[in-house]
Amino acid sequence: MGFYGDRVLPRLCNVLLAGEELSRIRSRVAAGLSGVVLEVGFGSGLNVPFYPSGVETVLAVDPATLGRSLAAERLAKSPVRVEFVGLDGETLPLASESVDHVLVTWTLCTIPDVNQALREMRRVVRPEGQLHFAEHGRASDPRIERWQDRLTPLQRCWAGGCHLNRPVDQLVEDAGFVMSSLETFFIKGPKPFSYMYEGVATKY
Ligand SMILES: C[S@@+](CC[C@H](N)C(=O)[O-])C[C@H]1O[C@@H](n2cnc3c(N)ncnc32)[C@H](O)[C@@H]1O
Repeated sequence: MGFYGDRVLPRLCNVLLAGEELSRIRSRVAAGLSGVVLEVGFGSGLNVPFYPSGVETVLAVDPATLGRSLAAERLAKSPVRVEFVGLDGETLPLASESVDHVLVTWTLCTIPDVNQALREMRRVVRPEGQLHFAEHGRASDPRIERWQDRLTPLQRCWAGGCHLNRPVDQLVEDAGFVMSSLETFFIKGPKPFSYMYEGVATKY
């Protein structure tokens, strides 16, 4: 990924994604997870404090391995065992139907082949297992969508390939998940960067 992507961006994300508003979202989206959970885009483990007590093991996937050391303190305080099992959500080194649930936060924007990654998530989750997600993406207002399309090439350059304009709900459903709950809303910040999709989708 290069010096910026490997050494700088993980530190930036560790700070920029740690605020109170996002922590409240993390807490909501992690609720209901249990058993063996796959977290794609583990980052610096900002979700670790919010894993509910029913979670036994988290299998973590992320290409930015610096995140593992940035997560050290959170991991040390957590009763949940976290195993780093892979680097790329597009090719998960896991057997089909081997995990109970999947957690993904602020990551579907960045994975290059997001359709493939979501198909992989669906493959490895057990029947009736759920994908819990909190992601920013395409707004439902044409004026903001136009800005998102304009700004995405710039955003991809400085933010590790992050797209502002991905329709998260559609991507999740296209991969074969059935939406069980979905909320869309703006968080604080400029509108093209702050349209959120928070929900749970189920594999049937
Ligand atoms: C904006 S950060 C979010 C990190 C974390 N999920 C959070 O909520 O704080 C996006 C993460 O996606 C990871 N990522 C990028 N490409 C990926 C891929 N192909 N598979 C899995 N994770 C990826 C990045 O390394 C980064 O840690």
